Amino acid sequence: MMTNMIIQTLAVILFIGKSVSGVSIYDPDSTNTTSKSISEGVAQGTFVYTVSGSSSLTYTKIYQSPDSPIFGFDSSTGELTAPAGLDAETVTSYEFLFSGTDGTDTVYSGTLTVTISNINDNPPVFSVSNYTTTIVNTVPDGYVIYSATATDLDITYINGYTITAGNTGSTFDIDFSTGVLTVKTASNLDPNVSPLYTLTIQVTDGTFNDVMTIYINVEADLCVPDPCQNSATCGNSNGTFVCNCTVGYIGVTCSDDDPCIPEPCLNSGTCTVSGSSYACACAMGYSGVNCTEMAIGTTTTITTNNNNSNSNNNNDDDDKSVTIIIAVVCSVIVLCLIGAILYLYLLKTRSLCFKPQTKADIHKTSFHNGSFSSTKNSVFPSDNTSLTAITVPNSAMVKNT
Ligand SMILES: *[C@@H]1O[C@H](CO)[C@@H](O)[C@H](O)[C@H]1NC(C)=O
Ligand SMILES: *[C@@H]1O[C@H](CO)[C@@H](O)[C@H](O)[C@H]1NC(C)=O
Ligand SMILES: *[C@@H]1O[C@H](CO)[C@@H](O)[C@H](O)[C@H]1NC(C)=O
Ligand SMILES: *[C@@H]1O[C@H](CO)[C@@H](O)[C@H](O)[C@H]1NC(C)=O
Ligand SMILES: *[C@@H]1O[C@H](CO)[C@@H](O)[C@H](O)[C@H]1NC(C)=O
Ligand SMILES: *[C@@H]1O[C@H](CO)[C@@H](O)[C@H](O)[C@H]1NC(C)=O
Repeated sequence: MMTNMIIQTLAVILFIGKSVSGVSIYDPDSTNTTSKSISEGVAQGTFVYTVSGSSSLTYTKIYQSPDSPIFGFDSSTGELTAPAGLDAETVTSYEFLFSGTDGTDTVYSGTLTVTISNINDNPPVFSVSNYTTTIVNTVPDGYVIYSATATDLDITYINGYTITAGNTGSTFDIDFSTGVLTVKTASNLDPNVSPLYTLTIQVTDGTFNDVMTIYINVEADLCVPDPCQNSATCGNSNGTFVCNCTVGYIGVTCSDDDPCIPEPCLNSGTCTVSGSSYACACAMGYSGVNCTEMAIGTTTTITTNNNNSNSNNNNDDDDKSVTIIIAVVCSVIVLCLIGAILYLYLLKTRSLCFKPQTKADIHKTSFHNGSFSSTKNSVFPSDNTSLTAITVPNSAMVKNT
């Protein structure tokens, strides 16, 4: 019955040729396009379209794109039918070309476009199956608790969110289109009456549903009355209150003065709170409770008001290693000095007892006499003055030349 209706409304003469002998060449620019829309949910074999010529022809489906899944085609009746597995989420339209022949000549159709329309064939799915949170009993109306999100594989769908269970006294509300869950009646919140709400949230696309669970723990607001002092801000955190102190105060309730303010550590020392007191980590070269004393040598001294045996031990180690380095350096310098003195002494002793026998010896001697001769020729200056104090036997010179 359905098929008949579709045939009645959509069976169209697609063929162009007035006679079989009229057109025999496919015209890719043909403006004779025809469109047809079917639903992705149709069964295999469902009628789609009828191709027909001006007279009785044998028809061929010569082109289908995309080529899968293959549409059914009857070459004698020209009927195109749906394949199984049409999916609008995968392919939204197909194009076809047909030909017809009477055995002698062939005619070609224009383009048939078959559009696959979407149906709601996928369910919406929540991103998580449950969510747990804690709120305090002092939150205001409209306080945002959660934003529920679901996805749906269908191209077009309508998601709507509702609370279907657990919403005692309409304490909560969810936005139908956005899924934002809020407190609707904050005055209902009382940890002594209802410390836990278990809400069932449903999403629907009109046909399919999904649900998730939201657990809402209600706790007494530990910041009421405010335990935090000195203008601190109070917050609830996992069953306890947390004070965020203003500058100058420390402690669980911000009741104590910060011993590091004003800064007691001088000379670039850094201050850390230690109990009710403070400790200074002094910059290099300084020591003392407030880093005011000049440290001996180049050692770093960390001074604390507390008994911190660890840092003291480290300090001792530092002292030892620095001392060792200094001792080694001093020893090397002393050894060098002794060596130099010894060398000079030996040099002096040698020059006093020396009797020159060679040109080289004469050279050395002439240096000691102050003429500083350095070339071979000048070893024997013509005027002989630089050698006056030295007896140079001619025989020795000749023998060694
Ligand atoms: C397209 O089809 C119409 C009839 O529907 C016909 O009059 C016309 O000649 C055709 N055009 C071409 C280019 O085949
Ligand atoms: C909550 O969801 C997680 C996974 O997201 C699951 O492992 C757990 O069992 C769920 N808890 C409840 C109470 O449903
Ligand atoms: C909250 O406190 C409970 C015990 O009171 C502990 O088991 C849990 O790990 C805490 N959670 C956080 C986020 O600190
Ligand atoms: C504490 O308060 C200051 C402002 O006074 C703010 O900048 C800071 O983020 C707060 N810290 C916490 C942990 O809330
Ligand atoms: C360190 O400085 C504080 C004040 O900043 C002062 O009261 C204290 O006497 C100082 N201590 C020493 C040992 O100088
Ligand atoms: C300092 O610390 C050491 C080791 O931790 C301990 O034996 C000693 O009693 C402490 N002294 C004081 C005065 O607290």
